[in-house]
Order: sequence, then structure tokens, then C-alpha cells
Amino acid sequence: MQVYSLKSGLAAFISQARRPIGLVPTMGALHKGHLSLIRQAMVDCETVVVTIFVNSTQFSSSQDYDNYPRAVEDDLAILKNEKVSAVYVPDDSDIYPLGFVTSINMKGFAQALEGEARPGHFDGVATIVTKLLNRSMPDQMYLGQKDAQQVAVIRRLVSDLDIPVRIVVCPTIREDDGLAFSSRNVQLGASQRQAATILYKALAATRDRYRAGNHNYHELIDGCRRIIESEKLIDKTDYIEIVDAENFTKWDEKGPCLLLAAVKLGDIRLIDNVLMD
Ligand code: PAF
Repeated sequence: MQVYSLKSGLAAFISQARRPIGLVPTMGALHKGHLSLIRQAMVDCETVVVTIFVNSTQFSSSQDYDNYPRAVEDDLAILKNEKVSAVYVPDDSDIYPLGFVTSINMKGFAQALEGEARPGHFDGVATIVTKLLNRSMPDQMYLGQKDAQQVAVIRRLVSDLDIPVRIVVCPTIREDDGLAFSSRNVQLGASQRQAATILYKALAATRDRYRAGNHNYHELIDGCRRIIESEKLIDKTDYIEIVDAENFTKWDEKGPCLLLAAVKLGDIRLIDNVLMD
């Protein structure tokens, strides 16, 4: 496994690499969700590049950025074990050198939900993803369904800017009690960790209601909110929303949709979603 911290090293590697190349972009603190992306990329591709970069421009609070879990040595050991071809672990100056002023501005649905709760978040995501795509020139990029809005934003980005990459979306990986794997889970205290299970319980119960025939937007949202807020350790529900599963537009109470929610336990923010079809 090759490890690069500079774009020049990565560029030399990519110029020689066998195709198809699969890119798995991450912010590190790797967990089973990342592993599922990496393993799918290993099945599909001759060369698998994993990037580890905690991207400051997608955080709307410097405290959140500072507190984001970092575990580069552990991550490298995991990636070596998975036999990935190359890891790109740049520092800030290799990504945002002095004088850097460019940012991709995502509008429309990118400014709702996560975009509203975290202003500028998707501009930061779009900018770093574009840079990582330009540097690794992959045939395929692997993303997790847990970040459903991120997937939709990146699909829009590559379509709008004609970036030649295929996006492969892998299912959300969950703990036995349903909590979606997330790098942020390690920040939860024991009682918060237990309480966090309410998020998926509420989404799954609402999906059951939908499948039993209730397609009323307000009843589904209100019911989901009641379950989430029955848990006293949930400090805030940022949003609960149902959107069209295809394009993230307003759901017209017909056809498949995505139910999404974001909650806060103390300073820790968790998101999750389920497909309702
Ligand atoms: O999902 C993430 O970990 C990040 O948003 C990504 C795609 C690596 C961009 O920094």
C-alpha cells in the first residue's frame, strides 16, 4: 500500500495505475461503513485509492472541526489490512495552499436540510470532492447512503460540471441495535449512545406506517417526531423531512421517498435516513 501526503506523489501513482480506479473519499476515523465502501471498490476496481482528509471548509463551526475524531495511524493499519492500493493523506497546505480563494457554490436543494443546518457545508463538500476527483481521476467513486443528501449533491455536482465519474452508492451499515455507523458515534457517552438508537427506531417505525398504507406527509412527520422526542437525551431535532427519493424535491405523497432526520445529543449531531417504497 502506497501512502502519499503530496499531490505530486499521488499524481505519479495515478498516471501508472491500472484501471478501473475506485476512489473512496473519507475524513478518516474509519468504521464498518467505510469498510463496506472499500470492500465494494476492491471487488469492482483494479486500483483502489482511499483519501483521508478532515476538510475544514465543510464544517460550519471551528469547535466541531477541532472535535472531529482523528485516528490516522489506526486508519492506515486498517487500510493496509484491506490491501488498498494507495492512501492520500494530505495536510491542509497540500489542499488549500496559500492564496486559495475558489469555492463551488451549491444552490437549490443543497441549501435545505443539512445545507440549512450547516451553512456552507455542501459548498465545502463540493469543492473538496472536485479536488479529490481531479487528483485521483477515478472511474468510480464510492459513497454511503447514510449521507443521502451528500450523495444527491455530489450526483448533481458531477452532472452539472461534466465530471466523468460513476457514483456507486453503498447501503447504510448499522450496529446490531440499528444505529448507523458514523465517525461521530465514538463521541457519544454511554447513556447518549443508548439514547441515539431512538433515531433509527423512529425512522423504521415511520417506514412501517408508510408500508401499512399511511402516505400522509404531516402524520408521518409528526409521528416520527413524537418517537424521537420521547427520548429525553435528544436535545434538539434539527429536521425531519420526507423528499422525493429520485431528486430530493418535495414529496407529493406518491411514489418512493426518503425519510431523513438529524438530531443533536449535547454537541453531537447524528443524521440518518430510510427509503420508503
Ligand atoms: O462523507 C465524508 O466523509 C466527507 O463529506 C467527504 C465526502 C469525504 C468530503 O470531505
